[in-house]
Amino acid sequence: MKVLFFLLYGLVLTLTMARRGVWSAKAASLKPSGRKISRVLVIGATGGTGRELVQQALERGYEVTAFVRDPARLQVTDPKLKIVRGDVLDSAAVEAAVEGQDAVLSALGHRRLWVPSHVQAEGIRNVIAAMKKKGVRRLVCVTALGLGNSAGRMGIIGTFFALPVALPIYFWDKSRQEQLIGASDLEWVIVRPGVLTNGAKRGRYQHGVHVGSYIWPTWSSRADVADFMLAQLTDDQYLQTAPGMIW
Ligand SMILES: NC(=O)c1ccc[n+]([C@@H]2O[C@H](COP(=O)([O-])OP(=O)(O)OC[C@H]3O[C@@H](n4cnc5c(N)ncnc54)[C@H](OP(=O)(O)O)[C@@H]3O)[C@@H](O)[C@H]2O)c1
Repeated sequence: MKVLFFLLYGLVLTLTMARRGVWSAKAASLKPSGRKISRVLVIGATGGTGRELVQQALERGYEVTAFVRDPARLQVTDPKLKIVRGDVLDSAAVEAAVEGQDAVLSALGHRRLWVPSHVQAEGIRNVIAAMKKKGVRRLVCVTALGLGNSAGRMGIIGTFFALPVALPIYFWDKSRQEQLIGASDLEWVIVRPGVLTNGAKRGRYQHGVHVGSYIWPTWSSRADVADFMLAQLTDDQYLQTAPGMIW
């Protein structure tokens, strides 16, 4: 009986996340601005994926602004790196950081899974508002498999254990984050990885709206997620869609 209840709970949550997340599976007819991207802002730059984004963006020759709460947590120095202190919930700080950028990359997240939080949704709301105000068009944001048209593609353990036990509050916020991005007219790409590792960059991975598995868990490294996110700065293939991305 308990097992049945648990399965039902997992199923209901999965359907809820399907309904709340973004569904656009086909690249929009939106005409990209074609603007050359040389300056990028990284939100969540002190996190695992964020640090990879900063490092790899510098290696690709971008001028990088890292938006951080605590500069001591980002041990990178480079003449092309500017570190800006701020909280993503502070709209004025976000607006100041967005000014003069060509694109924004967000790897926002947190580890307090059971604490009610709106930081991902409210954070991206501030980012979107600032981008609109400052005329910045391209936004690449990482969310996760399991939302919108990728619902259920977290594997059985993800769908019937991780999502119901560890992630319901976190995913509620993430799904709202997706809704806000999806409702914007920006040149956005939502990147949905499976489980993240701190492994090395392989540079080879699967991506697209149909990746992920209903049965097995799927992985990729934060380094490869960053690689794929950076590719979205200049590639228009996934504009206004939410591709999955796994090894
Ligand atoms: N872990 C997985 O297996 C997995 C799977 C799929 C998707 N994802 C998603 O992938 C993304 C990246 O994951 P990750 O593990 O690399 O992230 P992470 O290490 O948890 O980093 C999250 C970043 O967000 C920042 N942040 C949180 N609240 C903030 C605020 N109020 N203002 C400014 N910055 C704030 C953190 O700053 P501080 O350093 O100051 O805390 C940190 O830099 C997340 O969205 C995560 O949900 C993770």
